[in-house]
Amino acid sequence: MVEQVWRSRRVVLVPCSFQGHITPMLQLGTILHSKGFSITVVHTQFNSPNPSNNPEFRFQIIPDGLSNHVISSGNIVEIISFLNVNCEVPFRECLALMVNQQDPSDEIVCVIYDELMFFSESAANQLKLQSIILRTTSAATCISRLALLRLKTEGHIPLRDPIMQDPVPGLHPFRFMDLPISKFGIPENYLQLIINAYNTRTSSAVIWNTVDFLEQSLLPQIQQQCHVPIFPIGPLHKFAPASSSSLLMEDTNCITWLNSQAPNSVIYVSLGSLASMDRKELVEMAWGLANSMQPFIWVVRPGLINGSEEIDLLPEGFKEAVGGNCCIVKWAPQKEVLSHGAVGGFWSHCGWNSTLESISEGVPMICRPCFGDQRVNARYVSHVWRIGLQLENELERGEIEKAVRRLMVDKEGEQMRQRIKNLKEKVELCIREGGSTYNSLNNTLELIKSFWF
Ligand code: UDX
Repeated sequence: MVEQVWRSRRVVLVPCSFQGHITPMLQLGTILHSKGFSITVVHTQFNSPNPSNNPEFRFQIIPDGLSNHVISSGNIVEIISFLNVNCEVPFRECLALMVNQQDPSDEIVCVIYDELMFFSESAANQLKLQSIILRTTSAATCISRLALLRLKTEGHIPLRDPIMQDPVPGLHPFRFMDLPISKFGIPENYLQLIINAYNTRTSSAVIWNTVDFLEQSLLPQIQQQCHVPIFPIGPLHKFAPASSSSLLMEDTNCITWLNSQAPNSVIYVSLGSLASMDRKELVEMAWGLANSMQPFIWVVRPGLINGSEEIDLLPEGFKEAVGGNCCIVKWAPQKEVLSHGAVGGFWSHCGWNSTLESISEGVPMICRPCFGDQRVNARYVSHVWRIGLQLENELERGEIEKAVRRLMVDKEGEQMRQRIKNLKEKVELCIREGGSTYNSLNNTLELIKSFWF
């Protein structure tokens, strides 16, 4: 009977239109669906998710008004700012239509929106619907983004080169160079985005894709300043089955290749969906990896090289030099790769999803952050959890070769592996009955249930 009541309620999800945000939102949808909710995903034209990956959900597209010029600029801050202006009215109309046409046995109970899609809140509010925020980056990122606002008033911004190595006052363990700065520096619209993203407005709660024990001292600090409950229910991917939310086609050949490799021998190299590098860096990376003699999977996705959609930019002689010791794909089934016994290391840009996925599978990391929260996560990986090492200088083949050997062969890497295996075990405890994530998820469900009782 209780199950029937739950089945008759619908949750509307509004993901932000980037891979690293779509994935956790769809994972949350999968969890809520498994608890009896119906799900509608309202998404932009830009980076539309593939509905056939989640046939149990409804998908509603809204116009986003993004010009090709804005999309191709790659300026994420600008894209998100435009989305918040352009999507407000279409979302309100779409939501109003859904409410007007809804079947009483399938009523919308709340809207859950990505913190960056804050236009959603006013539409929900106007229609007297409750709303909840989903945060898809770490708590440390929240603290350090808010610190940027303080640093601005203290006159530290724009950041100047001579202080980049210095510790940020009051923000241990970060140096200025670890701050979550966008590719385009710290323009005014980025600071405004931070203010909007961390304003909870009339929303009822914050759901956070993080794990309590990983960010223990930070979450209570944030909770103190937040007037609504915070529910850390990560890592979301551990609850949701592996249905793909990839915007690019996954190449599963790498799993066949992995099956023939020795345990813990392979380094998986992927810089996520947005990070990019120049051709010179790609060449150094290619030779550094090749010279390490360690087998590797390398995700060379379209757009990885600045200004080029081509992926066939590897240096001459490279493929012959590495032979069967390497597998190159445009996009990998990453969670499957990381959980494979042959994978012993992850060279990552330290996007928050990748970081959580690596911790959940106990795979130590080489960190090469590019921008934004990746720098914050890399600092935590290398200096707080000590489960990885950071490549900080200009990419150079000799340095890369050394880093790969430090991680994959040396005692230092073995110690990191041991530490991350301990974290993996703790994550497993958190998601079990009685664990912190398990309890937080129950509290989230209780809250949503309270919206209609
Ligand atoms: C972006 C930001 O860059 C990141 O810092 C922020 O935390 C979230 O938004 P992205 O760069 O794509 O995300 O990185 P990440 O958060 O790691 O998300 C990438 C996702 O794509 C992961 O879930 C990963 O498993 C998946 N992936 C990546 C694949 O499935 N296959 C690949 O080949 C590469």
